[in-house]
Amino acid sequence: MGSNAIPPPIVRRKIGRLLTALVVGVLGSAAVLVAPQTSHAAESTLGGAAAQSGRYFGTAIASGRLNDSTYTTIAGREFNSVTAENEMKIDATEPQRGQFNFTAGDRVYNWAVQNGKQVRGHTLAWHSQQPGWMQSLSGSALRQAMTNHINGVMGHYKGKIAQWDVVNEAFADGTSGARRDSNLQRSGNDWIEVAFRTARAADPAAKLCYNDYNVENWTWAKTQAMYAMVRDFKQRGVPIDCVGFQSHFNSDSPYNSNFRTTLQSFAALGVDVAITELDIQGASATTYANVTNDCLAVPRCLGITVWGVRDTDSWRPEHSPLLFNGDGSKKPAYTSVLNALNAASPAPSPGSGQIKGVGSGRCLDVPGASTTDGTQVNLWDCNNRTNQQWAYTAAGELRVYGNKCLDAAGTGNGTKVQIYSCWGGDNQKWRLNSDGSIVGVQSGLCLDATANGTANGTLIQLYSCSNGSNQRWART
Ligand code: XIL
Repeated sequence: MGSNAIPPPIVRRKIGRLLTALVVGVLGSAAVLVAPQTSHAAESTLGGAAAQSGRYFGTAIASGRLNDSTYTTIAGREFNSVTAENEMKIDATEPQRGQFNFTAGDRVYNWAVQNGKQVRGHTLAWHSQQPGWMQSLSGSALRQAMTNHINGVMGHYKGKIAQWDVVNEAFADGTSGARRDSNLQRSGNDWIEVAFRTARAADPAAKLCYNDYNVENWTWAKTQAMYAMVRDFKQRGVPIDCVGFQSHFNSDSPYNSNFRTTLQSFAALGVDVAITELDIQGASATTYANVTNDCLAVPRCLGITVWGVRDTDSWRPEHSPLLFNGDGSKKPAYTSVLNALNAASPAPSPGSGQIKGVGSGRCLDVPGASTTDGTQVNLWDCNNRTNQQWAYTAAGELRVYGNKCLDAAGTGNGTKVQIYSCWGGDNQKWRLNSDGSIVGVQSGLCLDATANGTANGTLIQLYSCSNGSNQRWART
């Protein structure tokens, strides 16, 4: 292999790859090796273009429109993720207390899966669209009903949902930063964390999201209140994996370019972010491109979902806020989103090789070719031996010797980075970024050669990302 730093291999990613990643995620890790390519052709659909950077592009689907062939043709072609617009909500899935009904939810779910799409679950605990019986409950009876509901719905879809919106819209609008008043809030301030703990136990495979609107502008009190809650949850170990930004932009809640700061700030807390219900009054092509680029700028932004297919399908048709006209033709905003997605740097390909420090010119190495769990990795002269061969899997692991994983022994600055038997945890998943940094998925911290060391034996740790040459790596 050449002695110069080589950028990470790039490859065109397709929906099939996204599905591979999902399947690998569910079935446990497997090293899927794909020959690297150095360029990628422009994709012609939103989902395909999003997948080339490892993301999805989704839409809300309404079960009642699934017999409209214009609708299903566009939705089937363009999107690789689906959210049921109303069919998995509380009133739809538990119309009578204890009697679950998944007819409409399953219709949306089955259409999505039969057409090769992943599914976001929406939503389990919410003040709105509660069935009458739940609206009239309070206190511990409501708390019990909430956990029963989460268990019932998540149990039905167990292992089938990529992300669940566990709690929706729990903060008040305006400048108070307070929780929204609701029967759920009055059942006790801990209702949100109880919902998340219940959800984790009900389906450990699903990513658990908090979802809200008017939280895109970093300066707004509601955004800051949500941020404080997520930070607190991460500090206290309440299971939360992602934050959904509904992103219903309109004249009362306009897009602001500080949305990117918001997404970055939440990601830095150690959660994924997603744009979950995007629509923009007037559908400015520029604003749509800006929102898309904000997601693409944040490695932990999983993808974008628009809240409907055509303007006539929108919950706010008078805003003409979507990417397709009522006749099914593409709007200018469609093209601006597609072009932005195609311009994004491709996700690093799965593949195997050495990982060379840009500052040191030395390779990520397991000392003494040890296979013992807990052995801290170091820098060593590149020699192409098996203790320097790292396979980047579709699940995001860096495997050595086939069954050992690069593993963070904690989440703080100075945490030792070691090898450990692969088990699928987030402390064994890594993001290989186009700037050469390698970021721990659990910690959000960078793989770092300690104290800027470049010599043989320099130990590898986690540290806040600085883009220093001791934190940049090339796969060779
Ligand atoms: C909306 C649906 O689009 C409508 O069909 C329904 O009548 C009301 O709900 N925030 C959410 C979504 O989380 O569930 C809402 O969807 C829009 C606002």
